Amino acid sequence: MHISIISGSTRTGRTSHRVALALNIALQQHGAACTIIDLQEVQLPPFTERLQFLENPPAILQQTADRLRQTKALIFVTPEYNGGITGALKNFIDVFGKAEFAGKPIGVATASAGIMGGVRAAYQLQQTILALQAYPQPQMLLAAEVTKQLDETGVVINPAFSAKLDMFVNSFITFAGKF
Ligand SMILES: Cc1cc2nc3c(=O)[nH]c(=O)nc-3n(C[C@H](O)[C@H](O)[C@H](O)COP(=O)(O)O)c2cc1C
Repeated sequence: MHISIISGSTRTGRTSHRVALALNIALQQHGAACTIIDLQEVQLPPFTERLQFLENPPAILQQTADRLRQTKALIFVTPEYNGGITGALKNFIDVFGKAEFAGKPIGVATASAGIMGGVRAAYQLQQTILALQAYPQPQMLLAAEVTKQLDETGVVINPAFSAKLDMFVNSFITFAGKF
């Protein structure tokens, strides 16, 4: 099973990308094949229409859609911005929409500088996944005070977070394996 981790922060000096890196490491340790689709790197154009309705879609949209077609399960990673998900992640979700996501299992992982871990963004994201006719994993990963949990390369620096990460990854693999 191939898993794509969508890293939803494009901010200069971002910290939530650490969660995407940590998930990539942990999933590979569990024997899963996974890659990160990093929205800072991929740089999708601002939404004008869903991909299937664009007459001359930019190559980057086609290339990313091809990557998504090869993936059986996804994890969306986002910081909480103003009580919700990032604009970059919403832009990504809207342009591919049900065409690429419907029917797939999708996990939610959020990060914040504060103690709430981005829980409002996490719940919002689960609702969006339902609207895509995809399946949100019931368990979510909330990385509160993210820079105290993970270093810049995604290595865990707080042992308590290691247990949370492990629990999330185990449950994601079990959940995704049911599809
Ligand atoms: C535009 C913006 C809005 C934010 N809104 C929230 C918020 O609603 N709740 C929260 O807990 N933290 C909020 N924060 C703080 C972020 O949790 C913190 O900056 C985190 O590191 C952002 O992830 P990033 O480093 O990947 O951008 C906000 C930060 C930014 C830049």
